[in-house]
Amino acid sequence: AFCARADVAAVTLPNEIKSSLEIDWDNLGFGYHETDFIYVSKCGPDGEWNKGELEPFGPLKLSPSAGILNYGQGIFEGLKAYKTEDDRVLLFRPEENAMRMIVGADRLCMPTLPVNLFVQAVKQTVLANKRWIPPPGKGSLYIRPILMGSGAVLGLAPAPEYTFVIFVAPVGNYFKEGLAPIHLKVENTYHRAAPGGTGGVKTVGNYASVLKTQLNAKKHGFSDVLYLDAVENKYLEEVSSCNIFLVEGNKLATPQLKGTILPGITRKSVIELAKSRGYEVEERPVSVDELRSADEVFCTGTAVVISPVGSIVLEGDRLEYANKGVGKVSQELYAALTSIQMGKAADTMGWTKE
Ligand code: COI
Repeated sequence: AFCARADVAAVTLPNEIKSSLEIDWDNLGFGYHETDFIYVSKCGPDGEWNKGELEPFGPLKLSPSAGILNYGQGIFEGLKAYKTEDDRVLLFRPEENAMRMIVGADRLCMPTLPVNLFVQAVKQTVLANKRWIPPPGKGSLYIRPILMGSGAVLGLAPAPEYTFVIFVAPVGNYFKEGLAPIHLKVENTYHRAAPGGTGGVKTVGNYASVLKTQLNAKKHGFSDVLYLDAVENKYLEEVSSCNIFLVEGNKLATPQLKGTILPGITRKSVIELAKSRGYEVEERPVSVDELRSADEVFCTGTAVVISPVGSIVLEGDRLEYANKGVGKVSQELYAALTSIQMGKAADTMGWTKE
């Protein structure tokens, strides 16, 4: 059974946490901030989730033998809450995250969480941390649900116990460029995912494996790298932390989902939004050569929202888009999407949840 805790307000918060609310809302970036509460629920070998609870923000206690620490048995989600001008709190498509977590849990042999339990837990965590939601227009509260094998294992096997945790942090722009275009490099040596692997679910391991290429790219002045498929090294996959779209005239193209690409919720929303605004959108294999003829390129993700791409280095050529500025289509879709997310436009798509 799932139960809201009525006594949240009565929990005493450590002073240092209380005082850390002196946040520079105008310069948030995408960084770690401790907030007031986390949500924790556990599931034992019987497969039943216990009554989840909000707890004061703090470290988790884990066995050194925990499945997540040893064998990477863990997945996570990312979603955002926005404060509106009239002081409502909007969640963006939380059921989509819940459903994606169910698919990922199954792939990693973990117990799944019912959609309503996931969404209720997210809501409770956001409301308990309401004072950390940036003022309207300054950013959002990033919500990070994690499902992990917390039980002890030694031989390779699914853990005997699982923990579902949610923490939140106030965030602004993901890339240091803010809304200015980012610069990418096509990665030719390393791959993010292979057919039959776990690239299509949000496992923690997918992200550790891209750190090396990402750091190397940053050292050379790029914001991130663009991965190609692991079979032919010819088709676009995704960037380390986001999906990719190419614009040519009135047409958008994005790599189709085939198990190696993360089914981004912003990706899905942009496809639906663009179609509703009269664009033709194709989900199909997108050859790396198509980067040469695109008018605009942009990335999508919960953290990055819609990030215009100013240039991409491909085989020694620097390809530039929209005069290294923000392309018309990227700008239009960004404005349309964020107005819905922030509650500034009517939510005709039915995406937000109070
Ligand atoms: C997100 O966009 O929510 C992600 O999980 C990507 C992460 C690298 C910040």
